[in-house]
Amino acid sequence: MPFHLLPSSDTDMSRTFEIISTTFGNQHPYIEAVYPAHSTPEGRKRSTERLLAVKNTDPCCNFLKVVDTASGKIVAVAKWNIYDDHIPEEADLDGDWWENEEEKEFARVMYREYLVPRRRAIGELKGNVMCKLFYPLSSRRAELMVVGLDLLTVDPEYQRRGVGRMLVQWGTLLADDIGLTAVVESTDPGRGLYESEGFVYVDTFETKFPEKWEGRRKQKFHWMVRPCKVGRTD
Ligand SMILES: CC(C)(COP(=O)(O)OP(=O)(O)OC[C@H]1O[C@@H](n2cnc3c(N)ncnc32)[C@H](O)[C@@H]1OP(=O)(O)O)[C@@H](O)C(=O)NCCC(=O)NCCS
Repeated sequence: MPFHLLPSSDTDMSRTFEIISTTFGNQHPYIEAVYPAHSTPEGRKRSTERLLAVKNTDPCCNFLKVVDTASGKIVAVAKWNIYDDHIPEEADLDGDWWENEEEKEFARVMYREYLVPRRRAIGELKGNVMCKLFYPLSSRRAELMVVGLDLLTVDPEYQRRGVGRMLVQWGTLLADDIGLTAVVESTDPGRGLYESEGFVYVDTFETKFPEKWEGRRKQKFHWMVRPCKVGRTD
Protein backbone atom coordinates (compact mmCIF):
# COMPACT_ATOMS: atom_id res chain seq x y z
CA MET A 1 0.00 0.00 0.00
CA PRO A 2 1.72 3.23 -1.07
CA PHE A 3 -0.29 5.35 1.38
CA HIS A 4 -0.58 5.17 5.12
CA LEU A 5 -3.27 6.83 7.28
CA LEU A 6 -2.12 8.08 10.69
CA PRO A 7 -3.25 10.50 13.40
CA SER A 8 -1.63 13.90 12.92
CA SER A 9 0.90 15.26 15.37
CA ASP A 10 1.33 18.86 16.49
CA THR A 11 4.20 19.33 14.06
CA ASP A 12 1.98 18.21 11.16
CA MET A 13 -0.26 21.26 11.52
CA SER A 14 1.96 23.41 9.32
CA ARG A 15 1.72 20.98 6.39
CA THR A 16 -1.96 20.43 7.20
CA PHE A 17 -2.71 24.09 6.71
CA GLU A 18 -0.47 24.30 3.65
CA ILE A 19 -2.58 21.60 1.96
CA ILE A 20 -5.82 23.34 2.98
CA SER A 21 -4.59 26.66 1.64
CA THR A 22 -3.18 25.40 -1.63
CA THR A 23 -6.03 23.04 -2.41
CA PHE A 24 -8.85 25.46 -1.72
CA GLY A 25 -6.85 28.42 -3.07
CA ASN A 26 -9.12 31.43 -3.38
CA GLN A 27 -12.05 29.33 -4.57
CA HIS A 28 -13.58 28.82 -1.15
CA PRO A 29 -15.10 31.97 0.40
CA TYR A 30 -15.31 30.30 3.82
CA ILE A 31 -11.55 29.64 3.92
CA GLU A 32 -10.86 33.16 2.64
CA ALA A 33 -12.97 34.75 5.37
CA VAL A 34 -12.06 32.55 8.31
CA TYR A 35 -8.31 32.32 7.55
CA PRO A 36 -7.40 35.80 6.29
CA ALA A 37 -4.35 36.11 4.01
CA HIS A 38 -4.00 32.34 4.23
CA SER A 39 -1.78 32.10 1.17
CA THR A 40 0.90 34.45 2.56
CA PRO A 41 3.70 33.17 4.81
CA GLU A 42 2.40 35.22 7.75
CA GLY A 43 -1.20 34.13 7.12
CA ARG A 44 -0.14 30.48 7.00
CA LYS A 45 1.85 30.82 10.20
CA ARG A 46 -1.10 32.33 12.06
CA SER A 47 -3.52 29.79 10.61
CA THR A 48 -1.22 26.94 11.65
CA GLU A 49 -1.22 28.31 15.21
CA ARG A 50 -5.01 28.35 15.14
CA LEU A 51 -5.24 24.75 13.93
CA LEU A 52 -2.81 23.71 16.62
CA ALA A 53 -4.90 25.44 19.27
CA VAL A 54 -8.02 23.63 18.04
CA LYS A 55 -6.17 20.32 17.98
CA ASN A 56 -5.02 20.72 21.55
CA THR A 57 -8.21 22.13 23.07
CA ASP A 58 -11.19 20.64 21.22
CA PRO A 59 -11.95 17.21 22.68
CA CYS A 60 -14.19 16.36 19.68
CA CYS A 61 -11.54 16.65 17.00
CA ASN A 62 -9.38 14.01 15.33
CA PHE A 63 -6.84 15.34 12.85
CA LEU A 64 -5.67 12.68 10.40
CA LYS A 65 -3.05 12.54 7.69
CA VAL A 66 -2.21 10.28 4.78
CA VAL A 67 1.47 9.84 4.11
CA ASP A 68 3.04 8.71 0.85
CA THR A 69 5.16 5.86 2.21
CA ALA A 70 7.79 6.21 -0.52
CA SER A 71 8.58 9.88 0.16
CA GLY A 72 7.25 10.35 3.70
CA LYS A 73 5.30 13.35 2.41
CA ILE A 74 1.87 14.18 3.86
CA VAL A 75 -0.43 14.16 0.85
CA ALA A 76 -3.86 14.59 2.42
CA VAL A 77 -5.47 15.66 5.66
CA ALA A 78 -8.83 15.38 7.34
CA LYS A 79 -10.52 16.28 10.57
CA TRP A 80 -13.34 14.18 11.92
CA ASN A 81 -15.26 15.51 14.91
CA ILE A 82 -16.89 13.02 17.22
CA TYR A 83 -19.64 14.74 19.12
CA ASP A 84 -20.05 12.66 22.22
CA ASP A 85 -20.61 13.96 25.71
CA HIS A 86 -18.58 17.03 24.75
CA ILE A 87 -21.18 18.81 22.68
CA PRO A 88 -19.36 21.92 21.49
CA GLU A 89 -20.56 25.24 22.76
CA GLU A 90 -21.91 27.48 20.06
CA ALA A 91 -18.80 29.60 20.35
CA ASP A 92 -18.00 32.37 17.92
CA LEU A 93 -14.71 32.81 16.15
CA ASP A 94 -12.40 35.01 18.15
CA GLY A 95 -8.87 36.42 18.15
CA ASP A 96 -7.05 39.22 16.42
CA TRP A 97 -6.40 37.46 13.13
CA TRP A 98 -8.34 39.90 10.96
CA GLU A 99 -7.17 43.23 9.58
CA ASN A 100 -10.08 45.11 11.15
CA GLU A 101 -13.31 44.64 13.11
CA GLU A 102 -15.47 44.47 9.99
CA GLU A 103 -13.49 41.53 8.56
CA LYS A 104 -13.69 39.79 11.89
CA GLU A 105 -17.45 40.27 12.04
CA PHE A 106 -17.79 39.05 8.46
CA ALA A 107 -15.81 35.90 9.32
CA ARG A 108 -18.04 35.31 12.33
CA VAL A 109 -21.19 35.55 10.23
CA MET A 110 -19.70 33.21 7.61
CA TYR A 111 -18.75 30.71 10.30
CA ARG A 112 -22.17 30.79 11.97
CA GLU A 113 -23.97 30.43 8.66
CA TYR A 114 -21.78 27.53 7.60
CA LEU A 115 -22.56 25.65 10.80
CA VAL A 116 -26.35 26.10 10.74
CA PRO A 117 -27.29 22.58 9.53
CA ARG A 118 -24.56 20.89 11.55
CA ARG A 119 -25.58 22.54 14.79
CA ARG A 120 -29.19 21.66 14.10
CA ALA A 121 -28.28 18.02 13.42
CA ILE A 122 -26.21 17.70 16.56
CA GLY A 123 -29.02 19.13 18.63
CA GLU A 124 -31.65 16.91 17.04
CA LEU A 125 -29.63 13.72 17.18
CA LYS A 126 -28.47 14.25 20.73
CA GLY A 127 -32.08 14.60 21.67
CA ASN A 128 -33.09 11.45 19.82
CA VAL A 129 -34.52 9.62 22.79
CA MET A 130 -36.04 6.92 20.58
CA CYS A 131 -32.65 5.85 19.37
CA LYS A 132 -31.26 5.70 22.86
CA LEU A 133 -34.19 3.76 24.25
CA PHE A 134 -34.70 1.19 21.55
CA TYR A 135 -31.21 0.29 20.51
CA PRO A 136 -29.20 -1.80 22.96
CA LEU A 137 -26.15 0.40 23.12
CA SER A 138 -23.90 0.57 26.12
CA SER A 139 -24.32 3.85 27.97
CA ARG A 140 -21.05 5.14 26.52
CA ARG A 141 -22.10 4.25 23.00
CA ALA A 142 -25.53 5.69 23.45
CA GLU A 143 -23.90 9.04 24.10
CA LEU A 144 -21.94 8.88 20.84
CA MET A 145 -24.46 10.03 18.32
CA VAL A 146 -22.85 12.09 15.59
CA VAL A 147 -19.59 12.12 13.74
CA GLY A 148 -18.84 15.03 11.42
CA LEU A 149 -16.28 15.30 8.67
CA ASP A 150 -15.05 18.81 9.26
CA LEU A 151 -12.23 18.97 6.79
CA LEU A 152 -10.95 16.82 3.92
CA THR A 153 -8.42 17.86 1.39
CA VAL A 154 -5.99 16.02 -0.85
CA ASP A 155 -2.91 17.55 -2.44
CA PRO A 156 -3.89 18.00 -6.12
CA GLU A 157 -0.87 15.97 -7.22
CA TYR A 158 -2.29 12.97 -5.34
CA GLN A 159 -5.97 13.22 -6.16
CA ARG A 160 -7.94 10.36 -7.78
CA ARG A 161 -5.73 7.72 -6.18
CA GLY A 162 -8.06 6.63 -3.41
CA VAL A 163 -6.57 8.82 -0.69
CA GLY A 164 -9.72 10.87 -0.09
CA ARG A 165 -11.72 7.66 0.27
CA MET A 166 -9.28 6.36 2.91
CA LEU A 167 -9.93 9.43 5.04
CA VAL A 168 -13.70 9.25 4.55
CA GLN A 169 -13.71 5.59 5.52
CA TRP A 170 -11.87 6.30 8.78
CA GLY A 171 -15.06 7.95 9.97
CA THR A 172 -17.63 5.76 8.21
CA LEU A 173 -16.09 2.56 9.62
CA LEU A 174 -16.24 4.08 13.08
CA ALA A 175 -19.83 5.15 12.43
CA ASP A 176 -20.83 1.63 11.40
CA ASP A 177 -18.93 0.01 14.23
CA ILE A 178 -20.58 1.92 17.02
CA GLY A 179 -23.72 3.24 15.47
CA LEU A 180 -23.23 6.88 14.58
CA THR A 181 -24.85 9.22 12.14
CA ALA A 182 -22.23 10.97 10.00
CA VAL A 183 -22.59 14.44 8.52
CA VAL A 184 -20.61 16.58 6.10
CA GLU A 185 -20.79 19.96 4.37
CA SER A 186 -19.71 18.89 0.91
CA THR A 187 -18.11 20.77 -1.94
CA ASP A 188 -19.04 19.89 -5.52
CA PRO A 189 -15.97 17.64 -5.99
CA GLY A 190 -16.60 15.84 -2.69
CA ARG A 191 -20.22 14.93 -3.33
CA GLY A 192 -19.68 11.83 -5.51
CA LEU A 193 -17.13 10.43 -3.08
CA TYR A 194 -19.47 10.90 -0.11
CA GLU A 195 -22.43 9.40 -1.97
CA SER A 196 -20.37 6.34 -2.82
CA GLU A 197 -19.64 5.96 0.92
CA GLY A 198 -23.30 6.05 1.95
CA PHE A 199 -23.93 9.75 2.54
CA VAL A 200 -27.26 11.01 1.29
CA TYR A 201 -27.69 14.46 -0.19
CA VAL A 202 -30.16 16.52 1.85
CA ASP A 203 -29.98 20.10 0.64
CA THR A 204 -27.75 22.80 -0.81
CA PHE A 205 -27.13 25.81 1.39
CA GLU A 206 -25.68 29.20 0.66
CA THR A 207 -24.45 31.44 3.45
CA LYS A 208 -26.65 34.48 4.03
CA PHE A 209 -25.19 37.88 4.85
CA PRO A 210 -26.68 41.18 6.03
CA GLU A 211 -27.45 43.64 3.25
CA LYS A 212 -24.19 45.60 3.69
CA TRP A 213 -22.28 42.46 2.57
CA GLU A 214 -24.65 41.39 -0.19
CA GLY A 215 -21.92 41.83 -2.81
CA ARG A 216 -19.52 39.45 -1.08
CA ARG A 217 -19.00 35.90 -2.28
CA LYS A 218 -21.24 33.42 -0.52
CA GLN A 219 -20.21 29.91 0.40
CA LYS A 220 -22.27 27.18 -1.16
CA PHE A 221 -22.23 23.68 0.26
CA HIS A 222 -24.21 20.46 0.07
CA TRP A 223 -25.47 19.18 3.38
CA MET A 224 -25.15 15.39 3.45
CA VAL A 225 -26.08 12.87 6.11
CA ARG A 226 -25.08 9.24 6.41
CA PRO A 227 -27.72 7.53 8.52
CA CYS A 228 -26.85 5.56 11.62
CA LYS A 229 -26.96 1.83 10.87
CA VAL A 230 -27.62 0.67 14.42
CA GLY A 231 -30.80 -1.36 14.70
CA ARG A 232 -31.11 -2.00 10.96
CA THR A 233 -32.27 -5.45 10.01
CA ASP A 234 -31.23 -5.32 6.32
C1 LIG B 1 -12.81 15.76 -3.09
C2 LIG B 1 -11.42 15.18 -2.80
C3 LIG B 1 -11.22 15.14 -1.30
C4 LIG B 1 -11.38 13.76 -3.35
O1 LIG B 1 -10.14 13.17 -3.00
P1 LIG B 1 -9.43 12.06 -3.90
O2 LIG B 1 -8.31 11.48 -3.15
O3 LIG B 1 -9.13 12.63 -5.23
O4 LIG B 1 -10.63 11.03 -4.03
P2 LIG B 1 -10.52 9.47 -4.36
O5 LIG B 1 -9.37 9.19 -5.27
O6 LIG B 1 -10.58 8.70 -3.09
O7 LIG B 1 -11.86 9.35 -5.21
C5 LIG B 1 -12.86 8.47 -4.94
C6 LIG B 1 -14.04 8.77 -5.88
O8 LIG B 1 -14.62 10.02 -5.59
C7 LIG B 1 -15.09 10.63 -6.81
N1 LIG B 1 -14.33 11.88 -7.03
C8 LIG B 1 -13.14 12.21 -6.50
N2 LIG B 1 -12.77 13.44 -6.91
C9 LIG B 1 -13.75 13.91 -7.71
C10 LIG B 1 -13.95 15.11 -8.42
N3 LIG B 1 -13.05 16.10 -8.41
N4 LIG B 1 -15.07 15.24 -9.15
C11 LIG B 1 -15.99 14.25 -9.19
N5 LIG B 1 -15.86 13.07 -8.51
C12 LIG B 1 -14.76 12.90 -7.78
C13 LIG B 1 -14.83 9.62 -7.91
O9 LIG B 1 -15.98 8.81 -8.00
C14 LIG B 1 -13.67 8.84 -7.35
O10 LIG B 1 -13.56 7.57 -7.85
P3 LIG B 1 -12.75 7.30 -9.25
O11 LIG B 1 -11.44 8.05 -9.17
O12 LIG B 1 -12.61 5.82 -9.27
O13 LIG B 1 -13.63 7.85 -10.33
C15 LIG B 1 -10.30 16.00 -3.51
O14 LIG B 1 -10.65 16.18 -4.86
C16 LIG B 1 -10.05 17.38 -2.88
O15 LIG B 1 -9.29 17.50 -1.94
N6 LIG B 1 -10.69 18.40 -3.47
C17 LIG B 1 -10.53 19.79 -3.02
C18 LIG B 1 -11.02 20.00 -1.60
C19 LIG B 1 -12.43 19.51 -1.41
O16 LIG B 1 -13.34 19.83 -2.16
N7 LIG B 1 -12.60 18.71 -0.34
C20 LIG B 1 -13.89 18.18 0.07
C21 LIG B 1 -14.40 19.07 1.14
S1 LIG B 1 -16.04 18.60 1.63
